[in-house]
Amino acid sequence: MTQTEPFSIHALELGPMENFIYLVHDHATNRAAIVDPAWEVSKVLALAEQQGVRITDILLTHSHHDHINGIGEVLAASDAQLHLNRDEARFWGNYLDLPTLHHGGDIIKLGETEIRVLHTPGHTPGSACYHVGNNLITGDTLFVFGCGRCDLSGGDPEQMYSTLKDMGEQLPAGTVIHPGHNYAEKATSTLEEQVDGNPFMHFDSPERFVRYRMHYHDGHRDSPYHPVRKGEEMP
Ligand SMILES: [Fe+2]
Repeated sequence: MTQTEPFSIHALELGPMENFIYLVHDHATNRAAIVDPAWEVSKVLALAEQQGVRITDILLTHSHHDHINGIGEVLAASDAQLHLNRDEARFWGNYLDLPTLHHGGDIIKLGETEIRVLHTPGHTPGSACYHVGNNLITGDTLFVFGCGRCDLSGGDPEQMYSTLKDMGEQLPAGTVIHPGHNYAEKATSTLEEQVDGNPFMHFDSPERFVRYRMHYHDGHRDSPYHPVRKGEEMP
């Protein structure tokens, strides 16, 4: 939780797949956005009540079941507006009525807090990350010392390579990463630490990245993920 910013980010780990559900709270208006509502939504709603915030927005990082299975429950308790990337809406094909569809670069205003949408394809075609202050909510694009799989429907390891490379080159080193799953020994990290110790951020060409992601990684590494030294990803 960040105290000096005009917003705070609360994380709840919920469900059998160690999902992180985030509540972004705009202090000026006491509006809140839930990122990836899933699993025991009652706990998120209880947290919102305890914080005295009104849930006005739902942000999706992508449309996989373990990130969205609580949308209905949130909408039953609020009039929240649903936000997702346009390509993800097409891929999903089952989104709810009247979502707000975004392109990369869009700004979502949550009261006085600005949330920038990054289009980060690779895990799914319309995966999105949300940039708030110096925080990045990364869904299944980037985990602490890991990244989302690319072998499911809509996955594309070459896109993931470009997404992670752009992220490492374009965002400030001190950016705090908030992933979609608790797959490491700590819940958050910095981009600098990831560029250094996340094996998926070590590759300089798509070919080796694709081989590592698609054929090597899962047979050689398990969560909780630990840092890997550059050059030691794969023989
Ligand atoms: Fe996913």
